[in-house]
Amino acid sequence: MAEKDKTAVFGFPETFDQATALAQKLKAPVHHVEVHTFPDLETRVRIPAAANHAVLYRSLDHPNPKIFEVVQAASALRDLGAEKITLVCPYLPYMRQDKVFHKGEAFSQMLFGKIITPWVDAIIAVEPHLHRTRTMADVFPTLEAVALSGGDIMADYFHRKRIDKDTLVLGPDEEAWHTAKPFAEKLNLEWATAVKKRKGDRDVEVDIENAGVEGRPVIIVDDVISSGMTVFEAAKKAYDMGASTVEVAAVHALVDSQTLAAFEQAGVVWVVSCDGVPHETNKIPLAPALAKALKG
Ligand code: R5P
Repeated sequence: MAEKDKTAVFGFPETFDQATALAQKLKAPVHHVEVHTFPDLETRVRIPAAANHAVLYRSLDHPNPKIFEVVQAASALRDLGAEKITLVCPYLPYMRQDKVFHKGEAFSQMLFGKIITPWVDAIIAVEPHLHRTRTMADVFPTLEAVALSGGDIMADYFHRKRIDKDTLVLGPDEEAWHTAKPFAEKLNLEWATAVKKRKGDRDVEVDIENAGVEGRPVIIVDDVISSGMTVFEAAKKAYDMGASTVEVAAVHALVDSQTLAAFEQAGVVWVVSCDGVPHETNKIPLAPALAKALKG
């Protein structure tokens, strides 16, 4: 094993390109986190280099196996002498389960915080779903915990596009103000939120009666597109109410290709997302904002 790096980035296979882009911004080396999967689906993680400050990059979409691999990687980095471990986790999972909704369920958000906390010193996420739980410190009370604004980062990207000044930024539910507001304010656009009723995982009703979309271009802005139903219903309603065009900007896109095709059929002209979770709609690199946060 080579000499210990001062700061180094460690990337898991699926986001090694993003880890590399971050390392370039930090002028630091990047190393692969090697993951071997045994026939019974247990995994073994190997770290090929040591660092004083180890920046471990992984989004935790499709979270369950990834979480234990992150814990293994952090444990190995510590054994190799890391004095500080920062988990860069653009997509933070279990944030929407931010209370016990029905008696007998686990409080998944707090539990996730307790699983990660012993293994790292700092955590950086991008637009984690902070709603009933208002800050990262509530989930990770003993860590340096930072949440970057995805609305802000996406607005920087949209600055370079020519946007009609009459455009309405629409958060597809009440909670989406968190992303839509900074996005709209940075671009000097008007914003509003819809009212959503969720009846099931893929069954939502979206009401935009009072949003004022008539005759205007609309950009739907949300933190995450998961099943895609929230955005799909909001886009359909926006056209029903007379919007001239509908575009979609999401910080994290998890939605499958089939649902994306349905967006297109519903008239959505453009879907764009940040690259924390690899996806066909990725257009917005997170590396500049993450590097800035890491440099303090
Ligand atoms: C909800 O609180 C989130 O901000 C998103 O609106 C939601 O998770 C999207 O879910 P889906 O794409 O499954 O409708």
